[in-house]
Amino acid sequence: MRTRLSTAIAAGNLLLPDTGRLLVTRLPAVLAPEFDPARTDIVHGFAPEAEAWRAAGFTATPEPTGQGYAAALVGLPRARPLALGLLRQAAERLAPGGMLVLDGQKTDGVEPVVKALKGAFGPVEALSQGHGKLVWLTVSGTLPDAVAAWPDLAPSEGSAGWMTAPGVFSADAIDPGSALLCDHLPPLAGTVCDLGAGWGVLARAALAASPAITRLDLVEAEAAALACARLNVPDPRATFHWADALQARGSYDAVLMNPPFHAGRAADPALGQAFLRTAARLLKRTGVLALVANRHLPYERVLDDLFAQVETRADAGGFKVIHARHPRSGPRKAA
Ligand SMILES: C[S@@+](CC[C@H](N)C(=O)[O-])C[C@H]1O[C@@H](n2cnc3c(N)ncnc32)[C@H](O)[C@@H]1O
Repeated sequence: MRTRLSTAIAAGNLLLPDTGRLLVTRLPAVLAPEFDPARTDIVHGFAPEAEAWRAAGFTATPEPTGQGYAAALVGLPRARPLALGLLRQAAERLAPGGMLVLDGQKTDGVEPVVKALKGAFGPVEALSQGHGKLVWLTVSGTLPDAVAAWPDLAPSEGSAGWMTAPGVFSADAIDPGSALLCDHLPPLAGTVCDLGAGWGVLARAALAASPAITRLDLVEAEAAALACARLNVPDPRATFHWADALQARGSYDAVLMNPPFHAGRAADPALGQAFLRTAARLLKRTGVLALVANRHLPYERVLDDLFAQVETRADAGGFKVIHARHPRSGPRKAA
């Protein structure tokens, strides 16, 4: 596959250092052929992508652990604060004279981030291809003050009193859909799974409302969101799993979710529908799925196929809260 990175390397435009270690942050694993696993540390916060890098023979961690890299390459995420935070983190881990590389799509906002890079470091070299841009520069001397002002990626307390981090879902305030679900949770007891738990708003509300919950598993693919959830849900019944929810295993009395419906920038209701199928697979026959979704999302037909009883319990502000009971099939034990 021809990518901006392979084009720039093959054309001799981008000359990655021959020696020293490389830090590769948030680039997709389809770029694995461009790198040597023996000298490359992969950092990816999204569990399925980290797993894809591991499958390609690399060591992948959610956060960087090394220092003194000869080059650091960053894949642009959609959230600008996260993009700047990742660039700062990468620049701080370079050896003197190290190379900083950014690759991103126009639709993910690469141009304003390139502008910020130029504002901080001066001119950059660039390759435009496939509706995106690859830029690179050498970082010599101490880092410019502008870079130190870019976001720190550690969890911090937001305006609503919750710990959140740049780029996590609803980082600035509780999502109104999630708030509606918190107000319309069913009575919960036994084992509960929060699929796509984010920074933990549903889990915390459920644990506070239901003393009969014995264990609540928070499953979240984004490591940064899960790190916040650990701080927001200090309850001994909670356990935290950095994992792809679609691969979750277990047998639960209840599943909670505000399912994702975007893969990257594109709306993808199939992702939310896959979450519904996963919930049906995880639930005991007496189990209940409680979910919230934007009203327009096409979930009812899938829910009717999966569950014997599907009820809309709230419909407000463009969101619907649905309780679905009695999953129809699957290898489940009776409660
Ligand atoms: C709409 S947000 C809801 C977050 C949280 N439950 C809330 O109500 O604020 C969906 C969450 O699913 C996570 N997610 C997306 N794909 C995932 C996957 N394959 N496995 C686990 N979590 C995933 C996202 O990172 C995001 O935190």
